[in-house]
Amino acid sequence: MEKQILVLHGPNLNLLGSREPDTYGRMTLAEIDRGLEEQAAKGGFRIQTFQSNHEGELVDLIQQHGPSSAGVLINPAAYTHTSVALRDALLAVAVPVVEVHLSNIHTREPFRHHSYVAPVAVGQITGFGPDSYRLGLSALMEHIHHS
Ligand code: DQA
Repeated sequence: MEKQILVLHGPNLNLLGSREPDTYGRMTLAEIDRGLEEQAAKGGFRIQTFQSNHEGELVDLIQQHGPSSAGVLINPAAYTHTSVALRDALLAVAVPVVEVHLSNIHTREPFRHHSYVAPVAVGQITGFGPDSYRLGLSALMEHIHHS
C-alpha cells in the first residue's frame, strides 16, 4: 500500500494568491496542493492535505491523521512563532516532520525568527516561495525512504 504524507497549512494560507503577494507570491493554495499531489504520486506516496485557521483544529488533525502517516509536511504559518500545542502534538505522534515557509522567516521581523516547530522537525525549508513546499516534500520523501 502507498504510504501517506500529511500536509498541513496554517492560518491565512487559504488566502495565498491575493495575500501580500510581494511576500508570498501569486500562487494559490489549490495550485500548490495540486503540485504536491503530483510530486507525491511520482515518489510513490499519497498525500492528505488540510488548511486551518484554528490552532486546536490543527492539533486535532495531527492527532487524527498523524499516526497513520509516514511523515508530516507543515507550514504552521503564524503558529510557528507561538504554538507550544502544535509542537507537542507533532512530538506526540512521533513521525518525521518537515517545516516549510514561503518567505525567509529569518530575514523578516525578529518575532518571526523563532520557531517552536523547528526543534522537533527533521529540518526547515524557508524562503523559496512555493518551491519551499516542493523542496520540503522531496526532502521528507527521501528521509522516509532512508529511515
Ligand atoms: C509563513 C511565515 C510566517 O511568519 C507567517 O506568519 C505566515 C506565513 C511563510 O510561509 O512564509 O503566515 O509561514
